[in-house]
Amino acid sequence: MGQIEHIAVLGAGVIGASWTALFLASGRSVAVFDPDKGAEAAVRKYVETAWPALEELGLTERAKPDALRFETSAGHAVDGAQFVQENVPERLPIKHQTYQEIEPRLEVETIVSSSTSGLTLEALQEGWKDPSPFILGHPFNPPHLIPLVELTANAATGASVLDRTEAFYQDIGKVTIRIKKGMPGHVANRLQAAIWREAVHMAVEGVASVEDIDKAMWAGPGLRWAAMGPTTLFHLGAGEGGLQAFCDHFKDTFNGWWDDLGDPRLDDNSIKLLVDGMAAASEGKSPAELSAQRDKMLTAMQMATRPLRS
Ligand SMILES: NC(=O)c1ccc[n+]([C@@H]2O[C@H](COP(=O)([O-])OP(=O)(O)OC[C@H]3O[C@@H](n4cnc5c(N)ncnc54)[C@H](O)[C@@H]3O)[C@@H](O)[C@H]2O)c1
Repeated sequence: MGQIEHIAVLGAGVIGASWTALFLASGRSVAVFDPDKGAEAAVRKYVETAWPALEELGLTERAKPDALRFETSAGHAVDGAQFVQENVPERLPIKHQTYQEIEPRLEVETIVSSSTSGLTLEALQEGWKDPSPFILGHPFNPPHLIPLVELTANAATGASVLDRTEAFYQDIGKVTIRIKKGMPGHVANRLQAAIWREAVHMAVEGVASVEDIDKAMWAGPGLRWAAMGPTTLFHLGAGEGGLQAFCDHFKDTFNGWWDDLGDPRLDDNSIKLLVDGMAAASEGKSPAELSAQRDKMLTAMQMATRPLRS
């Protein structure tokens, strides 16, 4: 297969705009379709804002931030693209309609990757005449700064599509995982949901403030988890005996904690408690200000840790 030099981005909201910035930074040209009248200005602004971080990450050597064009339909946007990243709203009819429009215009080896967080590959394959070019490539927000992409393919996916998609994402600096069995939320969102469930439970039970529960995460396990995953870290938690020794020592403790974990619901009461707690924790900083701070820290962390990853 030829190189992927030109990419179509369908839907340029939170996720599509960030993918666009990353694709441009990797030296590709990008065609965008988004029916929102303000989309072009918003995406150009997003790319401009994201560019310094992408430069700092060293992703922009052969890149031009203006190798970008906007099209008036999804069909026109995919013309000449070797790769399509679909980020339209998370609603099955909109996704299906988009695929029906683009399928007849795809070139033979073009790959279509959906960013969907919650829809299954099987549901999204319905309506394709030939679903072989279609795969799930689920990013983590914001995709231009967080490396993870979760890939899902199945028997209807073309023989080389998974390998080619993975190779492409890795080429632009992503870290990929392969989902072997589809589940709502893939892997990473299920992990987030599990952690947040207990955070909400503890806030509702009054164990600590929303701010302190967040602090317990970023100043504690969160920092370790940015270096290594939870099972690897526990492998290091019992000396030379490794994970076997850790499990021998702590299995009753963990089984007891698991039995005790909460099962809260996001309802009016818990949401009010969280929102009030967040208002106190954010000390008047707007979401935009906090996002800018988050992005600076994410960039700095990756710059600091990249040479240490082997
Ligand atoms: N927000 C996240 O944290 C996140 C993370 C990973 C994956 N995703 C997935 O990415 C996809 C997009 O989510 P988002 O958060 O960017 O949503 P969003 O609402 O921010 O963006 C969707 C964009 O699609 C545009 N749009 C509407 N109809 C369209 C059409 N027919 N064709 C093309 N564009 C159209 C909208 O104008 C909007 O700009 C979803 O499938 C979502 O599950 C979201």
